[in-house]
Amino acid sequence: MMRLSTVSLIVISLLLASGCEPSTVVPPERAQTLTVTPTLTRLEMAQATLEDGLRVESPNKANEVVFGLVDGVPSYRVNHNGKPVILPSKMGFTFLEAAPLTSGLTIADWEESTFDETWTQPWGEVKEIRDHHNELRIRLSEVGEKPRELIVVFRVFDDGIGFRYEFPEQPYLKDFQIMDEQTQFAMAGDYDSWWIPAYQENRYEYLYTTSPLSSISRVARSGVHTPFTMLTDDGLFLSIHEAALVNYSSMTLQADENLVLKADLVPWSDGTKVKGSTPLKTPWRTIQIAENAGDLITSYLILNLNEPNALGDISWVQPGKYIGIWWGMHIGKWTWGSGPNHGATTANARAYLDFAAENGFDGVLIEGWNRGWDGDWTANGDQFDFLTPYPDFDLESLAAYAQARGTRLIGHHETGAAVTNYESQMEAAFALYQRLGINTVKTGYVGWGQGIRRHDENGRLVGMEWHHGQYMVEHHQRVIETAAKYGIMINAHEPIKDTGLRRTYPNFMTREGARGQEYNAWDDNPPDHVTILPFTRLLAGPMDYTPGVLALDFPEYRRNRVDHTLAKELALYVVIYSPLQMAADLIENYEDNPAFQFILDVPADWHETRVLHAQIGDFITTVRRERDGDTWFLGSITDENPRILESPLDFLTPGVTYVAEIYADGDGAHYLNNAYALEISRVLVDSTTLLKLDLAPGGGQAIRFYPASAEEIDSFPVYQP
Ligand code: NOJ
Ligand code: CA
Repeated sequence: MMRLSTVSLIVISLLLASGCEPSTVVPPERAQTLTVTPTLTRLEMAQATLEDGLRVESPNKANEVVFGLVDGVPSYRVNHNGKPVILPSKMGFTFLEAAPLTSGLTIADWEESTFDETWTQPWGEVKEIRDHHNELRIRLSEVGEKPRELIVVFRVFDDGIGFRYEFPEQPYLKDFQIMDEQTQFAMAGDYDSWWIPAYQENRYEYLYTTSPLSSISRVARSGVHTPFTMLTDDGLFLSIHEAALVNYSSMTLQADENLVLKADLVPWSDGTKVKGSTPLKTPWRTIQIAENAGDLITSYLILNLNEPNALGDISWVQPGKYIGIWWGMHIGKWTWGSGPNHGATTANARAYLDFAAENGFDGVLIEGWNRGWDGDWTANGDQFDFLTPYPDFDLESLAAYAQARGTRLIGHHETGAAVTNYESQMEAAFALYQRLGINTVKTGYVGWGQGIRRHDENGRLVGMEWHHGQYMVEHHQRVIETAAKYGIMINAHEPIKDTGLRRTYPNFMTREGARGQEYNAWDDNPPDHVTILPFTRLLAGPMDYTPGVLALDFPEYRRNRVDHTLAKELALYVVIYSPLQMAADLIENYEDNPAFQFILDVPADWHETRVLHAQIGDFITTVRRERDGDTWFLGSITDENPRILESPLDFLTPGVTYVAEIYADGDGAHYLNNAYALEISRVLVDSTTLLKLDLAPGGGQAIRFYPASAEEIDSFPVYQP
């Protein structure tokens, strides 16, 4: 069937209204891309007001973007099912020592195209991703003698929109410094929102606040980080973030009393926001739009807005599970630095490598192995030596021992925010690891506030930078590219936020960038924290939360505790996606622990993901199917309140009987005083079963479903609710 795109229809009606034949219009079936270059009279008409601007809608027509110029000022708005979600919002830039690009613009031309392609993730939460969108690309030109050009590109998907600016190569714009990006998101109502504050000491590591939009300008004066998630009065879920953050600074959001969120780029220490030169493309500004909260999680819009794999052969990139000499330091059993309680000793490492080999873990992370940890390493990161182990850690023989036993060491580069020191050793450090067969490195950037020390070539301190500014965006880019050269996968802590670059650089496996398990060792994550993360931080990408602490309290070391039941701790392996998934506890806490079997069984790579229950801050149930197999895993978690959730199992293959191996909260389980109560059972289910998930306060449930053998069908009972 012939269908003319929305833009073409508008163009045609404009042309017909002026008595012209629409000679350049081609049916979209025959031409992927339609370019319309208006003549002067057409151009005048195309300088649309925002009401009658250029429109582009999603393939299912639910989402629509309208772009227009009002007196030369560019703006856009967004509708969902005909109702405004984002009201007219301004766009543009101001520069250092150059006139702003915010007004005095005309539309030089525009084009629309349609894209529909399914691509395969080398690893991920799903195997196949469909990228189906309509694109509207508008070339804006300044009025005047030395006109500068700016291109605005919108991509509209069924699950939201993305837009970016492009500064093409041009005569009157070469090198520039952006002082401000004017992009606004004028929200159409006083939506509920979930956010963490920007420009704080602890980077992204905050508990989420839930508040109406209108209160943010008072309670988060310095703005908020993205992903920034909202719930509208009509029950629509929105999340603002960005995709493909390279050669630019990260975007935070400043709110005002009128419900307008404005892009606030994290500045360099000299106050400029972005140092760039043409040609330059900004990251995509993304707005995910979902009719229920779970659909935010199964939206792959951010990945779709990233470029395909740039690394070529990536057979060396492999997801997996790991253990580590890690929790012991956080609870105070061991130290990172040298001394009687040094954790990274040859003997401890051997014990962990043996345990990993015996239990099929892919790697053992060892922190505190290298010189530089003694004293206050958070203040003296310049002391870190990434090539020299402590004398009680025999790096060479341990690396060989690991490989002989079929596992590996995982490297660790804590920089203490002394980035120049790290960069000066980085190449040699990755080369060393590669020589030793170490193919995964955890990096770290512990430092507070604007605490990244930037030095020049002569070692002179030239600036203190934010973790989220352009300097660090470019640093992480250098790390990921250098790591790829040495066949190394990266897990970054205190990272730059994830914007989907794992599609382009599949060795960028996972990162922290939120309050993870470590807080339970020396502070406290309340039970609802992990029921918010999937709808906020995790929309950006995988998180190395490091679940699996089965000794939920550890009185011999510290009085802190994990505020979850045992079943909930297991369920996190399904709810929180990470391609490198840690079993974080001390190995002695896994010996003879029946709950450990779930950690051994659960994979870190998936074929398919579905969210069955989703209420932000209250509960979530996620099911995932293992890559290329028929075993499913379910993770369901609740906040401090008990709940019963009913779960149809219609995701299972019809006609097949499965064993459901259930790790449920036991009788009277409660995260505060009966956290270890766990009931493990095996029952038979199929795709018609309606499962009742009974979750204790702070509790959860973890299930493995696998096709039953004839023997199992004879010996296990059929599930009874
Ligand atoms: C903070 C990281 O998040 C944690 O995992 C690590 O153990 C310490 N820094 C030391 O590098
Ligand atoms: Ca951290």
